[in-house]
Amino acid sequence: MSLVQVLNLQLFSDEQGSLVALEENNNIPFAIKRVYYIFGTKPGVVRGVHAHRNLKQVAICLSGSCRFVLDDGINREEIVLDCPTVGLIINDLCWREMHDFSSDCVLMVLADQPYDAADYIHDYQDFLLLTKQI
Ligand code: TYD
Repeated sequence: MSLVQVLNLQLFSDEQGSLVALEENNNIPFAIKRVYYIFGTKPGVVRGVHAHRNLKQVAICLSGSCRFVLDDGINREEIVLDCPTVGLIINDLCWREMHDFSSDCVLMVLADQPYDAADYIHDYQDFLLLTKQI
């Protein structure tokens, strides 16, 4: 299965404009424990560059664009997020990097766990060990 899995979110568009609704355990495939968003990213900045032991997330680029790199220890795939109706699913034990943020990028992330600094894997070799790729 492809590393890049996306949710195509239903768009409610009318003469007023556009609306997307997110519901836990419905179009978002988990109970949402946390929401955060990244914006005002300076030129050339790379964010992420880590994996999580136990965390599922859906990333939605509400404005502008950025490029995600996902890596499961075997394959590395990329996707440009530039549409607020596309949600990128990021599963457990997936190395993620975010590059090429546009100055107007607002990246919202929904997560199935509260923030836990201990859940982060910051070292790529540790990540490979955990995924048993070395
Ligand atoms: P971090 O996850 O390191 O961001 P990135 O990997 O995208 O560079 O988070 C940056 C800071 O924000 C760090 O000090 C932890 C804090 N933070 C929270 O307090 N709660 C959260 O839910 C997240 C994602 C980060």
